[in-house]
Amino acid sequence: MTKKPFAGISRFRQQLRCLQTFFLPDLTYDYGALEPAISGKIMQLHHQKHHQTYITNYNNALQQLHDAINWNLAPTREGGGETLKGSLGYAINTNFGSLEAVIQRMNVEGAALQGSGWVWLGLDKKLKRLIIKTTANKDPLVIKGPNLVPLLGIDVWEHAYYLQYKNVKPDYRKNIWKVMNWKYAA
Ligand SMILES: [Fe+2]
Repeated sequence: MTKKPFAGISRFRQQLRCLQTFFLPDLTYDYGALEPAISGKIMQLHHQKHHQTYITNYNNALQQLHDAINWNLAPTREGGGETLKGSLGYAINTNFGSLEAVIQRMNVEGAALQGSGWVWLGLDKKLKRLIIKTTANKDPLVIKGPNLVPLLGIDVWEHAYYLQYKNVKPDYRKNIWKVMNWKYAA
């Protein structure tokens, strides 16, 4: 049987390409057509380098935004909650002892966070180790250090759980791990 745990994600990636990739249209005239007022060289540089860079950066930013919003989590049929034995599993065991220890520590940090915010499992690129940190409100992990890269984040704003779990926040923190996208984190 072919295992396709991430079929949903590939489909999503495709949709993303269709919906959110912008491109720079060609000019309707040659680069040199405005000479001598504006040289062909300047027109080419302006169009192919400056304008193209804005488009490329915009597409990259949208991709990153989409990654951050949608891929922390996955339905169980697409691998949500499945833990890993690869390099992330190894790093977790080395840095924290066990996956259970990570989950417990992130849940404790989430419980201790006053008000709205996020609990992060991240990588410290400089120290080459995993870290767990919280940020307030909409602050990204990088605010705690320029070397920090988020691997997964748990939204602990009330809007993320209150309608379903009411004041029983521990149940939300317990159940979120059942749909955690560890493969994406890895
Ligand atoms: Fe949220």
